[in-house]
Amino acid sequence: MAASRFLLLLCYLLVFLHGFAGASHILEELNTMEPTYVNQQHRTTYHFQPPKNWMNDPNGPMYYNGVYHLFYQYNPYGAVWGNIVWAHSVSTDLVNWQPLEPAIYPTAPFDIKGCWSGSATILPNHTPVILYTGIDTQGRQVQNLALPKNLSDPLLRQWVKPAQYNPIIVPNGLNASSFRDPTSAWLGKDGHWRVLVGNKRGKRGMALLYRSRDFVWWVKAKHPLHSSKDTGMWECPDFFPVLKKGQLGLDTSVNGLHVKHVLKVSLDDLKHDYYTVGTYLPYKDRYVPDNSSVDDGTSLRYDYGKFYASKTFFDGAKHRRILWGWMNESDSVNNDVAKGWSGVQAIPRTLWLDKSGKQLVQWPIVEIESLRGKKVDIIDKVLGSGSVVEVLGVTTAQADVEVTFELHSLDQADILDSMSLTQPQLVCSKLGCSNTKQGGGFGPFGLFVLASKDQEERTAVFFRIFKKAGNQHVVLMCSDHSRSSLKEDVDKTAYGGFVDVDLAHGPKPTLSLRTLIDHSVVESFGEGGKTCISSRIYPVKALGENAHLYAFNYAPAPITISKLSAWDMSTAKIN
Ligand code: FRU
Repeated sequence: MAASRFLLLLCYLLVFLHGFAGASHILEELNTMEPTYVNQQHRTTYHFQPPKNWMNDPNGPMYYNGVYHLFYQYNPYGAVWGNIVWAHSVSTDLVNWQPLEPAIYPTAPFDIKGCWSGSATILPNHTPVILYTGIDTQGRQVQNLALPKNLSDPLLRQWVKPAQYNPIIVPNGLNASSFRDPTSAWLGKDGHWRVLVGNKRGKRGMALLYRSRDFVWWVKAKHPLHSSKDTGMWECPDFFPVLKKGQLGLDTSVNGLHVKHVLKVSLDDLKHDYYTVGTYLPYKDRYVPDNSSVDDGTSLRYDYGKFYASKTFFDGAKHRRILWGWMNESDSVNNDVAKGWSGVQAIPRTLWLDKSGKQLVQWPIVEIESLRGKKVDIIDKVLGSGSVVEVLGVTTAQADVEVTFELHSLDQADILDSMSLTQPQLVCSKLGCSNTKQGGGFGPFGLFVLASKDQEERTAVFFRIFKKAGNQHVVLMCSDHSRSSLKEDVDKTAYGGFVDVDLAHGPKPTLSLRTLIDHSVVESFGEGGKTCISSRIYPVKALGENAHLYAFNYAPAPITISKLSAWDMSTAKIN
């Protein structure tokens, strides 16, 4: 029975395989299309945005026959959430994007009230399949399958939702309003596909596991793959293998002694993406995290700022795993309506397991460097205590900055109490970026970005160094927004995370920071991507040519900029 259904699905897909046109043709097509530019304050120039309206989660990202696809939750009718469809854009370089017509939109009883988040899986016969959440006529969340209508279309413009299969998973005996966001599926050695669906029972968040032989007929496993008490609804789960050693990415179905697994969940109650690193036991279909839990203040996050509902995919062309994440606005809904848009996608990041095996490392995809233009360097410059130095010669509203600070003496690093060791964000917000001599640790030092000439407006991205019992250093990375905008109606919460780095290691302690600045986006990567913080900023004065960039040192002792490079970033062709 199952085998015959699978055959049916395969036949259905194979019918469209012949006549495939190839990627060179796509390139031509993409290059001849006119980009749409919208000239508005605070719109980004190299981050992914639709031309207007509301966008939230990245959906079904994939690389297929020379083309990167990004689908996303989109409201075609306005700048607030609602009327959700899967909008669709394609790219050959992950930098420039061509918009297409929405790929999945409400048409059938199983998705008539909305087409919510989901993921793509590329089957072994090289056919992409999408699983997504539909809101059915009764308002229930159900899982559906969609297939390319025509595999000979290199851009996979149209998708069909076979009525004979859908819905493929229904919330039998489950809370039908907390049952969504299927992951990419993975194939076990036993020939069964597995997929996760986010859910909660009471306040216990969980990733339900479903198995299938044919991708059509799915059966719920007795146990969730993993669950955790008091975490609330797990939105947009993501589950994938990472190499224990090395930076290459892996197909989602890979398992073995050479890999660890990562489970990411987007906690609806906290609106942050948390992940654990652990072991997947295929015979039990259980995931066992190494140590941390997802629900306490010490848990790992992809990003300690604005970054939610993220999703990874395996890029078979460059053998890497790439992470997409949604950065929502931090100004008011009224402002969103007035400006006619809301939501930005962070720059896609390559991610891999850190050498320590304890956490992931993320770095902006290398392709983004193709936008780098004019460059300025500052080399071996001592910053005395209290000094601020302007970086001149680049357009700093649209820039990429990399800096390495060398630290001479960390004598004045105070002890951080054990309570604070679990609350990095609180420490950042309590201390801000002022020169706090007592209890402020060694620091702050870092960058003022999107700053007005008089620094009345400025966003501070910086480090503070403390000590904990045993004399070990603790590095805190913060993004302070208290002066980020003269506007009142924007959220100015400070963000922060610890950076796991051994400063005693090596001849001289150093700390590095990379910051991507794009008008209303500041995305920062501490110590090569060990800790990331993204912010949305709406300057009034520090706009366009009036935006400035400074390096500062408010630590009680001098530090040295061993190297700072800043580049103008050119505008990408996006939608
Ligand atoms: C996450 C989320 C998903 C849901 C989608 C709806 O931001 O709430 O759980 O599928 O957005 O747009």
